[in-house]
Amino acid sequence: MSVKDRLDINNIPEHVAIIMDGNGRWAKSKGQMRLFGHAMGVESVREALKAATEIKVKYLTLYAFSTENWNRPKEEVDGLMDLLVTTIANEIESLNENDVRLDAIGNIDELPTKCNQELKNAIERTKSNKGTCLILALNYSSKFEIKSAIKQIAEKYKQGEIELSDISDQMVSDHLFTAGIPDPELMIRTSGELRISNFLLWQLAYSELHFTPIFWPEFKKENFYQAIYDYQNRERRFGMVSEQINKANEEA
Ligand code: IPE
Ligand code: IPE
Ligand code: MG
Repeated sequence: MSVKDRLDINNIPEHVAIIMDGNGRWAKSKGQMRLFGHAMGVESVREALKAATEIKVKYLTLYAFSTENWNRPKEEVDGLMDLLVTTIANEIESLNENDVRLDAIGNIDELPTKCNQELKNAIERTKSNKGTCLILALNYSSKFEIKSAIKQIAEKYKQGEIELSDISDQMVSDHLFTAGIPDPELMIRTSGELRISNFLLWQLAYSELHFTPIFWPEFKKENFYQAIYDYQNRERRFGMVSEQINKANEEA
């Protein structure tokens, strides 16, 4: 039986987030340039998206470019931006065929013009789709996101629109790029690195974390299903004790 067949369809996470890491090291291991690794990583994006749509994951967030990634050598950054432009343009048709809606989080307006335009065009052209929502984290920094939420809320307080006691978890969530999107139940990081790298710090507060040594270009549908399978075998306690969780499950 394949891993996919062993999944409990009643316990599929609504939102899965992935830190796609290891393109450079994978390319190096093949004696290739880093950009070759990024280009090959696009196929893994297709695989992860296909896997997510097949089991009806509602939101799939992919970390594609962090604000820290601007510090990489110029030719790698330029290559990544070019890859983004061509990939987004090439994929619109397939996104529509698969009922996938594209969205983005991050400082999108500060991306190079061509990239920003292509992204907005694809978001517009897929906006009526009702299947999986593919969210690209681009020019994304979680600390920036939280800082701007704090500024927006502080401004509302200053204007007398809200009281201090109005500031709730929900209000903070509503001022993030991810407003309206449920927090990920599962976060996957490839390439063996055991860190969060400024990704969804608020939203991952209670997510299950899945780390795999596989480099991103080698990540296939089976690996995605394996991560979901592992997730389904975790006990999510949210601060409680096992007995309480078992009792709640029995009563459900
Ligand atoms: C992830 O792969 C892709 C991006 C960060 C854009 P890396 O480029 O970080 O690959 P490694 O970690 O250097 O192997
Ligand atoms: C995180 O990967 C960013 C993306 C996957 C886009 P990095 O490879 O940039 O992370 P660090 O620098 O190793 O933490
Ligand atoms: Mg990396």
